[in-house]
Amino acid sequence: MPHPYVLLSAAVSLDGYLDDTGPERLLLSGPADFDRVDEVRASVDAILVGAGTIRADNPRLLVNSDERRAARTAAGKPEYPLKVTVSGSGDLDPAAQFWHTGGEKVLYTTDEGAGRARALGLAADVVPLGPDLDWRRLLTHLHDVRGVRRLMVEGGGLIHTQLLTQGLADELQLVLAPLFVGTPDAPRLFGPGGYQSGRLRLLETRRIEDVVLMRYEPTAPGAGPLPTAADHHWLALACELADRCPPSDTAFSVGAVVVAADGTELARAHSREAGDPVAHAEEAALAKTDPADPRLPGATVYSSLEPCARRASRPAPCARLILDAGVRRVVTAWREPDTFVAAADGSGVLAGGGAQVVVLPEHEDAAKAPNRHLLT
Ligand SMILES: NC(=O)c1ccc[n+]([C@@H]2O[C@H](COP(=O)([O-])OP(=O)(O)OC[C@H]3O[C@@H](n4cnc5c(N)ncnc54)[C@H](OP(=O)(O)O)[C@@H]3O)[C@@H](O)[C@H]2O)c1
Ligand SMILES: [Zn+2]
Repeated sequence: MPHPYVLLSAAVSLDGYLDDTGPERLLLSGPADFDRVDEVRASVDAILVGAGTIRADNPRLLVNSDERRAARTAAGKPEYPLKVTVSGSGDLDPAAQFWHTGGEKVLYTTDEGAGRARALGLAADVVPLGPDLDWRRLLTHLHDVRGVRRLMVEGGGLIHTQLLTQGLADELQLVLAPLFVGTPDAPRLFGPGGYQSGRLRLLETRRIEDVVLMRYEPTAPGAGPLPTAADHHWLALACELADRCPPSDTAFSVGAVVVAADGTELARAHSREAGDPVAHAEEAALAKTDPADPRLPGATVYSSLEPCARRASRPAPCARLILDAGVRRVVTAWREPDTFVAAADGSGVLAGGGAQVVVLPEHEDAAKAPNRHLLT
């Protein structure tokens, strides 16, 4: 079932709290970080918060910058992202700012909660999901019915904990604020639960005034992230690109795509493209990226063939170029055979440099097809 890309966003105190217990919302970060959050909001199709956050903070969840809203409209998107909230009880204040600012609103609730929400006359599309609230059904509904491809989740803790423990989060953007709350009954960012993620992968750190932004990718326990539907999609595209290479009896035909963690394609290429008789696909694709692009460390290189470990035609093999670009994840369809280089071990070079290599053998036939004449 397709889901949107789910980006969790939160600010937290040094002792792990989202807020204090006072009546006013605790300000954890400053103007520069609020502006960054505004930018992230402008980049998504929908923003979700729990009912507890609406009750506690009465947030508006707008894109505040006129320029960012204008850019959304110019790109054919609604001026404001869809606002989404989740409540089991359906018991929400109809006068809350959430309902009366910005664009469209949806409330996901239980069958029972829907009755109450409708009786309260909440200014939103009320969607009951059955006797209990099932996050997978909610995400599928957002994707299929509301067309949401990127979802930003702005808390609170109960929501973040469920999405992370159920393995449904694609990214966590955490801002650490240099202060303590110190009250044990204040809301925590993450509660107890059976977390599905192993050790998270750190994608980026950024200093913003006196807070630090950390971007993490949750990973499956053990071997790192499991291949996703997106991995199959991009590797299939790399195999299609391999098919477009000018034929050669002395080199493999390979396709490669560089994709950022949020699913944005950064570059694509195939072997011997643009009249360069020795160009490799991964090398040509990386050459089209900006070496200063902060998305490269979180990006994945999809290559129809394992990146090369040694080559005569250029000083650096593709495995080295990938590491030098900062990329730490490679998805490929098959390991390089001994046709041109004995015991080529691009995966070994990549792993030695701290990159993860995932082989998806389902794509091996497609990746080999343009190279049949080289394989005996
Ligand atoms: N620092 C930050 O970045 C940040 C961001 C957001 C929020 N906050 C803080 O976090 C606090 C609120 O967090 P919170 O954890 O108490 O509340 P929350 O996560 O915002 O919302 C919890 C509510 O959502 C509904 N809900 C969640 N999961 C559900 C499920 N599986 N089935 C049915 N309903 C479900 C329930 O609503 P019903 O009770 O209606 O059934 C539940 O009470 C506030 O103090 C706020 O200031 C901080
Ligand atoms: Zn190569």
